[in-house]
Order: sequence, then C-alpha cells, then structure tokens
Amino acid sequence: MRAVLASGLLALLAAACDSGTEERPGTAATRAAMRPSGTLPEGSVPRPFPGASTDRPAASPALLARGRVAYGAFCAPCHGASGGGDGSVVQRGFPAPPPFASLDEAARAPARIVDVIRHGHGRMRPMAEQVGNADSWSIAEHVSRMGTEP
Ligand code: HEC
Repeated sequence: MRAVLASGLLALLAAACDSGTEERPGTAATRAAMRPSGTLPEGSVPRPFPGASTDRPAASPALLARGRVAYGAFCAPCHGASGGGDGSVVQRGFPAPPPFASLDEAARAPARIVDVIRHGHGRMRPMAEQVGNADSWSIAEHVSRMGTEP
C-alpha cells in the first residue's frame, strides 16, 4: 500500500512537472485530472479494496487536518476550496460537480464519499490510483462536514 501511495505521488509530481512543457498552457493544469479512465494498466492498484464500512478510522483533529490538506490537493481543483463545485478546472470547462452543501445526508456520509473516491461517480473518474486509503478517509470526514461547520 505504501508503495502504491508513493508511486501515485510520483505520478502526480510527474504530471505537475509536465505542465511546464504543455503546448497549450491554458489547459495544462487540467490534463492529469481529465485523463480518461482506463489508461492506467489494469492491476496497477491492489483490488479489492478493504470494505468501506470496516476500515473507517476514528475522526480526530489530526485526521481532519490531514483531510483538509488532501482535499485541497486532490478535490479542490474541481469541487472548489469550499466545496461549491467551482474549482479552477471547472472554470476551464470541466463539467461542474454539485455543491457538497446541496447533497443530502446519505450522499455526504463518509463511507459513501470514500466509495466515490475509489470507484468514481458519473463523470468523475475513480481516484484510487492517486488517493490512498488513509487520505480517502480523511478527505471524506472533511467533506462530510463541509457547509455544516465554519
Ligand atoms: C476532475 C474533476 C474532479 C475531481 C478532481 C474530483 N471530482 Fe468529485 N465530482 C466531479 C464531478 C464532475 C462530479 C459529478 C459527477 C456526475 O454527477 O456525473 C463529482 C461528484 C462527486 C461526488 C458525488 C456528488 C453527488 O452527486 O452525490 C462526490 C462525493 C465527490 N465528487 C467527491 C470528490 C472528492 C472527495 C474528490 C477528491 C478526492 C473529488 N470528488 C475529486 C469532479 C471531480
């Protein structure tokens, strides 16, 4: 798992470096996020993932702090810093996700958000390659509180 996380981070770093040589600077930042699903070799991620309901860590201030940072890196480009669905990628033409505050309680449950991160949802591609298990849970706890806490 640690190796997978490390390689995912390397891939992200590579994507970030790559943007400097992109021919169309206006779209460079969106390239990694908009890569069609299925372009990574099957089997590059261990499957199946542990069940969402059994591996949930206890929410702590440290977990929420980690979630805030990881959300900013992995989700805010599309979902916006405050979860309004107005991230920079959306402003460049990617379909807008719904604001998290507009979702009902079931859709904001941490286990469901982890499921969306792992498996994708509609036009949102699965992000298990980039977002490890621990980050997924920390992000989910952060997102489930968005709009309900200052
Ligand atoms: C490349 C842009 C992009 C990124 C990055 C992204 N999302 Fe999404 N997300 C979307 C879009 C677009 C939708 C709406 C998909 C649809 O309804 O077809 C969505 C939907 C969702 C939903 C479901 C909303 C509903 O209707 O119930 C959740 C939850 C979610 N995203 C969480 C996350 C989290 C957490 C992250 C970060 C780990 C993340 N997303 C990263 C674009 C993105």
